[in-house]
Amino acid sequence: MTTRRHPTLVAALLTLALAAAAAPPQPPLPHVVILATGGTIAGTAASSTATVGYKAATVGVAELIAAVPELASVARVTGEQVFQIASENMTPAHWLILARRVNELLARPDVAGIVITHGTDTLEETAYFLDLVVKSEKPVVLVGAMRPATAISADGPMNLFNAVALAASPEAVGRGVMVCMNDRIDAARDVTKTSTVALDTFRSPEVGELGLMERGRPVFYRATTRLHTTATEFDVSSLKELPNVGIALAYAGSGRLEIDALAAAGVKGIVNAGVGDGSLSIEAKAALVEARKRGIVVVRASRIAGGPVVRDGEADDDALDFVVADNLSPQKARILLALALTRTSDTREIQRIFRRY
Ligand code: SIN
Repeated sequence: MTTRRHPTLVAALLTLALAAAAAPPQPPLPHVVILATGGTIAGTAASSTATVGYKAATVGVAELIAAVPELASVARVTGEQVFQIASENMTPAHWLILARRVNELLARPDVAGIVITHGTDTLEETAYFLDLVVKSEKPVVLVGAMRPATAISADGPMNLFNAVALAASPEAVGRGVMVCMNDRIDAARDVTKTSTVALDTFRSPEVGELGLMERGRPVFYRATTRLHTTATEFDVSSLKELPNVGIALAYAGSGRLEIDALAAAGVKGIVNAGVGDGSLSIEAKAALVEARKRGIVVVRASRIAGGPVVRDGEADDDALDFVVADNLSPQKARILLALALTRTSDTREIQRIFRRY
């Protein structure tokens, strides 16, 4: 038996086929890999109104991705669970593992960018470390959340969407490691957590954000002038561990206790978070001079959130053979000093490094 097609149906099918053939082929969406490390973005609470006292790092990467189906409109997303920890437990050993995985993935031609989900408490430190050791121009974006995944108005899903959209966007190439939270794009070097609880916590108070996310596209206003990623001299590909560097925090009445304890513990460097412009009490100065004589590199930083520590200002750095941290926070100065010590112990060179990154 033969079947006869209706002539109008045949014409309609033909029109559709011709239209499909004429439509320009759509380029495949960029491949973005999400490396999950834990934090509040992967946290769960007993109730939807609990935003404190929850358990961080419980939701896996597959669930994080599945919770935001809109990701599929901006990128082809795959995920890996690298760690599942609260970020107060992040260590330099974790950073080395993460940096190697980022560098491996970015060397692949099929990977356009990386998003790292991370607890917010030490997110800025991981971001700055990666900014100094990632060997690729492709975007690397760190993201977290202030509210657990189970909360009403959880901020994680929108933050994740923006971070993936940023990592997938060609405009983000060559800008160094970025943090994308609450619609803002910040440079890893400049950003810091400014509130223990507010959603709007990540800011770059000294120099401002790089840009904003608008309808899933980045709008950039400025670029960082400090060297990063492919332009740095740091290579951690075969490094077993980072040199041990400690931070001593100054306060009214602080003496030499913390500095002496660090020196006795065998650190290679001490970042002194001094008061004001990195000022040192008489006792702290004496302890740091002794530490320097023992070969420990001393960096003068400040506990103040804004402004640089001026060389040869509140201490005679040339004579004492100290280094100044510029406007890096003590926790970021510690990272740069540890990486600098993988290259040199010459304090003039280390000061050059602090001017450059
Ligand atoms: C953490 O840093 O892992 C807990 C806090 C947070 O992610 O906001």
